Amino acid sequence: MNMLMIKALAFAAILIIATVAVVMSLDIDITGDFVNAVTMGGAIAIAVITAAVTTKYIHQMKTDTPSGELADENWDGIGEYENELPSGWAYAFLATFLWSMWYGFLGYPTNAYSQIGEYNEEVLAYNKKFESLHKNADAATLLEMGESIYLVQCAPCHGNTGDGLSGKAQDFTGRMSKEQVLHVINNGSNQLGYPMGMMPPGMASGKDAEDIATYIAEGMKGEKPASFAACASCHGEDGKGMNGMAPNLAQYDDTLMTLVLEKGKKGFIGTMPSFKDRLTPVQQKAMTVYIQSLSK
Ligand code: HEC
Ligand code: HEC
Repeated sequence: MNMLMIKALAFAAILIIATVAVVMSLDIDITGDFVNAVTMGGAIAIAVITAAVTTKYIHQMKTDTPSGELADENWDGIGEYENELPSGWAYAFLATFLWSMWYGFLGYPTNAYSQIGEYNEEVLAYNKKFESLHKNADAATLLEMGESIYLVQCAPCHGNTGDGLSGKAQDFTGRMSKEQVLHVINNGSNQLGYPMGMMPPGMASGKDAEDIATYIAEGMKGEKPASFAACASCHGEDGKGMNGMAPNLAQYDDTLMTLVLEKGKKGFIGTMPSFKDRLTPVQQKAMTVYIQSLSK
């Protein structure tokens, strides 16, 4: 037995003794418990294998003689053998390459996890639940819902009390201001998509236009000017829009609210942004109930 073997045995013995010592100090029952015995066996096997492998390589380093061909190049006198590519390495490289091609061109783009997609799906699912939960919501619930949406989405432009922030947006306490109506009379309008189509410019002018605008701005409560006949053909005798064919000039009804929220509107005051896809049908209804509650 040579010196190296003796050292290897001593190394294995030290590892085993150390392992046993630790186990004893923990007061673990090795002989009585099957699982503990197997674990102990494993620990001893690891110690023996460690010693054997270490010994093998130390022995190899001491006794190995060069075989094979050296490569032509050398680095500061250190040469390299012309080794065959290890097949395991080559297969692993090939597999990684193929997998990365599949992942880059097929797997990732088509099966990608998308955080935005997950968010959208969750919002859709939640909206569906919300819609069915509130499909028969009563007026009080809608009013409350409308108010909370209003304070977040609309108040920044229309003001907390719906007064339009000194003319920066629509004042909901009345239907439209005189200037606004005059602007529409003079310029016409074609934005909301009513069945009647567009409102042509110049349906009235001069004093007639003034009288009509005053009448509408005051809530159509005073004496109706005769010239309103020019408007009645589309907006109705009472200005309520004839079954939704043209806008209701007397109040913010369901049709007007839905169209304005879906399409937005650019007018005399400024631009009302579209809320398409940002409010569910129930929320739009709630907005209508709330806005109607603001007008005097
Ligand atoms: C040919 C039919 C027609 C006639 C006549 C007509 N309107 Fe209109 N009016 C419309 C339509 C349609 C709209 C909606 C336009 C749009 O889609 O933007 C509209 C919109 C309006 C609006 C804007 C409402 C809002 O909330 O945005 C006002 C104000 C208005 N009309 C006032 C009048 C007045 C005043 C007259 C009479 C001088 C008149 N209209 C005559 C069809 C008509
Ligand atoms: C970025 C500012 C802004 C926000 C936010 C906003 N609006 Fe408006 N809105 C306006 C402006 C400006 C007008 C006036 C447009 C015009 O000149 O005809 C208006 C007009 C309106 C009108 C009247 C349209 C007509 O044709 O008479 C309604 C109804 C309305 N907004 C409802 C809402 C509701 C409900 C919300 C919240 C969900 C909201 N707005 C959020 C700016 C805004």
